[in-house]
Amino acid sequence: MRSQLLELLLWPLLLLAVPVLSLPSNNSDPSLLWGAYRPNLYFGLRPRLPQSLMTGLIWFNTIDYMSIRSARHACDQGDGIEGYSWTEFDPRKGGVQVLKDTPNNVKITTEFLKVPGGSNGGSWAARIRGEPINPAMPSRTSFIWYHGLEGLGGIDMETDEDENGLEGDINFSGSSPDLDDFTIRIVDDPKNQALTSGPHAHIFEDRIGKTHFAGFRIAPGQMWQAKDWITQNILKRAQGILEPYRDPSAGAPDPSFTLQLSDETLTGSNLFAIQKMFDGEFSFDVFFESASAGHKLDSSTLDEGIPALLSSFNTHFSTTFPLPASYSSLPTIQSFSKAITSNLMGGIGYFYGTSIVDRGFAYEWDQDDEADDDEEEGGGKVGGARLTEPRELLSATPSRSFFPRGFYWDEGFHLLHIGAWDNDLSLEILKDWINLIDEDGWVAREQILGEEARSRVPAEFQTQIPTNANPPTLTMAVTAFIARLKAFQRTSSTGPSDAELGMDHGMQIPIHPPSSDPLSQFAGNEYITNPELAQTYLRSIYTPLKRHYDWFRRTQRGQIKQYGRRARSRTEGYRWRGRSQTHVLTSGMDDYPRGSPSAGELHLDLISWMGFFSRTMREIAGFVGEREDEVSFGEIEKAILGNIDDLHWSEENQMYCDVGVNDEDESAHVCHKGYLSIFPFLLSLLPPSSPHLGPILDMVRDPDHLWSPYGLRSLSASHPEFGQGENYWKGPIWIQMNYLALKALHDTYAAEPGPYQERAREIYEELRKNVVDNVFKEYTRTGYVWEQYDSITGEGRRSHPFTGWTSLVSLILAEKY
Ligand SMILES: *[C@@H]1O[C@H](CO)[C@@H](O)[C@H](O)[C@H]1NC(C)=O
Ligand SMILES: *[C@@H]1O[C@H](CO)[C@@H](O)[C@H](O)[C@H]1NC(C)=O
Repeated sequence: MRSQLLELLLWPLLLLAVPVLSLPSNNSDPSLLWGAYRPNLYFGLRPRLPQSLMTGLIWFNTIDYMSIRSARHACDQGDGIEGYSWTEFDPRKGGVQVLKDTPNNVKITTEFLKVPGGSNGGSWAARIRGEPINPAMPSRTSFIWYHGLEGLGGIDMETDEDENGLEGDINFSGSSPDLDDFTIRIVDDPKNQALTSGPHAHIFEDRIGKTHFAGFRIAPGQMWQAKDWITQNILKRAQGILEPYRDPSAGAPDPSFTLQLSDETLTGSNLFAIQKMFDGEFSFDVFFESASAGHKLDSSTLDEGIPALLSSFNTHFSTTFPLPASYSSLPTIQSFSKAITSNLMGGIGYFYGTSIVDRGFAYEWDQDDEADDDEEEGGGKVGGARLTEPRELLSATPSRSFFPRGFYWDEGFHLLHIGAWDNDLSLEILKDWINLIDEDGWVAREQILGEEARSRVPAEFQTQIPTNANPPTLTMAVTAFIARLKAFQRTSSTGPSDAELGMDHGMQIPIHPPSSDPLSQFAGNEYITNPELAQTYLRSIYTPLKRHYDWFRRTQRGQIKQYGRRARSRTEGYRWRGRSQTHVLTSGMDDYPRGSPSAGELHLDLISWMGFFSRTMREIAGFVGEREDEVSFGEIEKAILGNIDDLHWSEENQMYCDVGVNDEDESAHVCHKGYLSIFPFLLSLLPPSSPHLGPILDMVRDPDHLWSPYGLRSLSASHPEFGQGENYWKGPIWIQMNYLALKALHDTYAAEPGPYQERAREIYEELRKNVVDNVFKEYTRTGYVWEQYDSITGEGRRSHPFTGWTSLVSLILAEKY
């Protein structure tokens, strides 16, 4: 204790950064206004508005003086928390999250309940409760709730201040242009206990058992640093108070008595922190009442609202992601599937701010393209990293701890999953992404919007380059929407089919008239049940999507005739721009082995993605009645399928390969067995009758190559680089790639007649079981789902929780592809 105390006294106070400006914006759907839209925090609520109210939760134990130095706030893998997980989460209603903070011996539950009403997005209630994990050990914690208002408006503490702290409810009132008038009230559970005795207790008795507070004036753009202001306030005060105890003979007071907020507010404060000190079990509530809704919320709102929320969640979950019969003896897998789906949705964030773009950067082998592009600008290079205008984005996030921001190629997968739960929410998110497509048709693959997002990214990865692409997955969200529309249209005329209701094959399905169809009753299906709305939406995204597609074809084109390559189509060859000697970050498969960089390379995965992009654009064009475009996308798709065989199939190696340029300056296949080699299969581009399907299935099922008991590995186990170097895409198992393989098998190769149909069916069953069982086993063992899995041991690797595309396991379980 003594040396900790000294360290605390010597801990330097931080310097805080300068403000940035931001602009007002839009939001349409009131049930999506509020959310846990700060997923980088353990618990952070905010509305989907650029400058508005931000809330957060901070805690530390008061058993020792060091804990405040690792106060919990932003999700951090270094915190040693044994799992934090929304067990149920519905983005329109709220949810329940459980955090096991073992180092602090406290299990915390955060409940969040939206209460609709009024004309400003409604009210909400939150409950934070805790209990010791090990009741035999002390569990003393201090929790700080904060709320801060950015932008126009103000917020006042209504409760009279007292320099020794407060008792009872604490009330605030506030107002802002978007939220209008509101109140916030923080209410203690009368059963809460505080530590009352201990070293020097009598000196601090006026403040013991009270709620402490502080008010701060925060400049625009700095609210995200609230934790720093708040902990500094506590530390600064404690440093003064602890001064007399420097002498070791005095003995230090208990930290519960001294690590307290200053109980002062500044005039014009726009950030308020409320601190509670607990000994053992505790609970407190926070109520946000929107004046126009006229709500009077109290603890009964949560007592009744949370069970109702869980019940509606569970009903919707069991129709949307039904547990297959083969897993019915394992009820815990249902909770697992609920948790990963909930965490994907609880990981949706709202981001707003500037980003960094460099319009001049190009690698040597990409410089020819640059010269073309620069002509428009009068030949001069417009180099250097610049800040863009602020943009907004509602997006799911791959990992709350490690990647708490938007990623382009992950998002297509996220939206498949989210769209299955709440169609309209997936469209809201997609719309924000489409809005980011610039005049050229480009979207940055990583969306690092604003200072808070940038604070989590190393400087060398912050800059985005407008010649760089990423796998075009967003159209998956659109075709999935169209499939739901078509299914609904069939349903409303003939009654639902089993597939439309998401039931297992072979079950007896009752025929409902459309009025009792669960689809029509669910709030997130307005765009499905209203065909006009659907067409308007699709038309509004069609033009930017097409611009985006044209950007890909124009900027990622590869060379065919220059190397005397023979192919049916003279145009359909593709090359990722922006690769380095060792990495093709743009492909998403960063360190996967490739040939040497050259302007003459052709990349198999990219031409496959372009085939997929053309096919999905054809479907979308067809659905919105763009006949000419439909035909032209179809022609490109056909040309691509031909060229995949002509350019990328190596008869000698019996596999698909990249194409490079060898030392004699001749075109040559570059073959590395792994995910890359099976791309035309992964994206269902090969017809089931293709003679190349057999060799692909052989490679997939061969334990010396891609097959492992835990899923398909990224690089063949026999490859010389298997498991080498940073080993990111050189062996580990990725769940979204396994999802693609399962989808291809389920929807195409096991479903359609062909010479390999039976084989495909067997592989499908085995692979599905391997993937599901291992991700579930690792979740049970570690409390997390992971970014990737070791292909030798099956163990989870790298970022966690990774409830982005690893959550696809819920779709795999329910066979929703
Ligand atoms: C906000 O939404 C309205 C209605 O949907 C739309 O007309 C308007 O263009 C949107 N504004 C912005 C800034 O996106
Ligand atoms: C806080 O607000 C509640 C509800 O409006 C009211 O009953 C209570 O008296 C207020 N408490 C204080 C300390 O202002």
